[in-house]
Amino acid sequence: MHREHTMPSMFILLSVLAAGFGAPRRCEPGDEALGRCRIPEEENAACTDMALAYCQDVPYSSIMFPNIIGHRNRVEAELGAEYLLMSVMHGLLNGECSEELRLLGCSVLAPRCQAGRMLKPCRSSCEAVRKGCSHAFEGIEMAWPYFLDCDRFFVSDQEGCYDPLSQFKARQQIAYANFTDEPSTIIQFTYHTNAQMWSTLKRTAAKCAHISRTYSIGRSVEGKDLLVIEFSNNPGEHELLEPEMKYVGNMHGNEVLGRQLLIYLTEYLCSEYLLGNERIQTLINTTRIHILPSMNPDGYELAAAEVADRSDPEFNQEGHIFNGWTSGRRNTQNIDLNRNFPALTSVAYSRHRYRRFRVDHIPIPDSYWFGQVAPETYAVMKWIRSVPFVLSASLHGGELVVSYPFDFSRHPQEDKMHSPTPDEQVFKQLARTYADAHAEMANNNTDRCGGSFTNRRGIINGAEWYSFAGGMADFNYLHSNCFEVTVELGCDKYPSEEALYPEWKRNKESLLSFMEAVHQGIKGVVRDQHGNGIKGATISVRGIRHDITTAEDGDYWRMLTPGMHILTVTASGYSKAVKRINLPRSMSRAGRVDFVLKKVPYEPDVDDLYIPGMETYERFDPYNQFQSYTQRELGENGEERQEKPWWWAYFTQSGNSAPTWLLRN
Ligand SMILES: *[C@@H]1O[C@H](CO)[C@@H](O)[C@H](O)[C@H]1NC(C)=O
Ligand SMILES: *[C@@H]1O[C@H](CO)[C@@H](O)[C@H](O)[C@H]1NC(C)=O
Ligand SMILES: *[C@@H]1O[C@H](CO)[C@@H](O)[C@H](O)[C@H]1NC(C)=O
Ligand SMILES: [Zn+2]
Repeated sequence: MHREHTMPSMFILLSVLAAGFGAPRRCEPGDEALGRCRIPEEENAACTDMALAYCQDVPYSSIMFPNIIGHRNRVEAELGAEYLLMSVMHGLLNGECSEELRLLGCSVLAPRCQAGRMLKPCRSSCEAVRKGCSHAFEGIEMAWPYFLDCDRFFVSDQEGCYDPLSQFKARQQIAYANFTDEPSTIIQFTYHTNAQMWSTLKRTAAKCAHISRTYSIGRSVEGKDLLVIEFSNNPGEHELLEPEMKYVGNMHGNEVLGRQLLIYLTEYLCSEYLLGNERIQTLINTTRIHILPSMNPDGYELAAAEVADRSDPEFNQEGHIFNGWTSGRRNTQNIDLNRNFPALTSVAYSRHRYRRFRVDHIPIPDSYWFGQVAPETYAVMKWIRSVPFVLSASLHGGELVVSYPFDFSRHPQEDKMHSPTPDEQVFKQLARTYADAHAEMANNNTDRCGGSFTNRRGIINGAEWYSFAGGMADFNYLHSNCFEVTVELGCDKYPSEEALYPEWKRNKESLLSFMEAVHQGIKGVVRDQHGNGIKGATISVRGIRHDITTAEDGDYWRMLTPGMHILTVTASGYSKAVKRINLPRSMSRAGRVDFVLKKVPYEPDVDDLYIPGMETYERFDPYNQFQSYTQRELGENGEERQEKPWWWAYFTQSGNSAPTWLLRN
């Protein structure tokens, strides 16, 4: 009896106290651990109907308050930044992972209730989503939300949990079953925004961490990462004798098919390797592959915005994109990146007056640095110089053909003149490799996109098509050991989304065969008598005025066509060595040809070794011209200005306390 009297007065006292301090404190992240608040007991809790609009479609209708993070009722839950995040997540992440994340969030904010007890979601489901989706957050530089912390708010099977994604997974399986005739690898054949691209690449590298990683080679004018994904059995390291190749897409921002195909290719390589596809495993086990899907992410953004406008029926009645359209082709300094490389081809032509001229490893003229160098160009030049690439392709659009160097005409007045490199035969073979595996490209009769390529079966010398200076392919060939071709994937630079899957099917075999072509020809190691590799030794092939040099450990790769070849290896301070080799017609692996050079007293052989300008080859950006581009904006005290990410505004306008837990340190 006594007790019945005291209880209500205690209640009143508590309410008064609470009123005095304002609304009772709800737990902010970390508060509970610090003793500043307490997650309310569940004693008085009971099952109630699902009330959160964003969670209406979960497979249960009874939920419980206080929920797992301490909101006591619907209103509190709806006012929280957690719920706000869930309502804008789809837009922020461009749809990526948004279903999984929403269902996971609902299992915490609107936890399932059964027979008066709360059922907690499974930690294993949370961890699976976190593994697959954390890169979506990384893509927009947002931290993983604290309320999806798998360890704190999710429980193990033993504690009796349920899988909040069970229905979602079942739906996915049905959707995929009809989707593709390659059931082994699941790829979403849609366009990727820059954020989606970065997050797909990072997610793929995480999924295949033992054979893949991502790295940035620099930033665009607007500060976007030029993100590369690498595949190799030893990611991050050059292995002795393992050849390296690269694919570059979207150099012209409005030529977008190559960018998408390269994104699909990365997903395909990862997934097929894991599934045990022997061809893909062999390729990755023996090759180091670098893929830069977008060299011009700023331009892409402009192009994509224009496409969005054009598909607005009020703007455009003609249907899809026409061929002459160029928005976003250049970078945002209005520089065409494929005209911005050092114009070494004219230097090469000027060497023809020397009796034993060679056209390789031509230094960058100092004058180049006084012109405008785009940061994208700069980043790619540094990349080309720092990795011993052997083979490369740059993917473009607007035509259906593979073109190979030189792109710059050997005659100043002829802008459509066959202008072969000394490696004409090798380049033709490489271009054939891509074109022949592509049914429409290799066909004589295809109605091309206006260009006249009759009876060429899809390949052409660049300058014979049309001449231009400052291109990337000529630079690769004349400045480094890398052979690059330009692939024009089709007439439509920005095909409709429905065309993406057929285009992948059309190009997949070409993309794979071309990577495998890096194993054509010969490779080996040049060593001294003690077995140490010699860096920078020169491998010459008789009849081809283009030498290859050895990499850091003395290893080299020389792509060659089948037949008899005479090789000469020289290095300053060593005697020269000559070997004759016969390369059979059918070889799937590069032939191994090693050399041992004897040390000799230094005798400069002017006639043999003099190459004008060679002494400046090592110099890159000698006047630090580029510094001006890369300097970051500094605040008043010289510190780097800390800017809040672009999505921050979503969370600060509502008057709530700002969710600093979304910021990454
Ligand atoms: C799968 O394909 C069949 C036949 O084409 C079609 O009837 C069915 O609706 C499809 N199922 C789904 C889930 O798309
Ligand atoms: C590729 O390398 C991995 C790891 O060494 C090995 O398990 C796999 O069998 C190799 N695959 C092929 C086809 O050589
Ligand atoms: C294409 O044209 C070339 C040159 O005329 C010819 O040699 C070749 O056989 C033709 N190929 C096909 C598939 O018709
Ligand atoms: Zn192009």
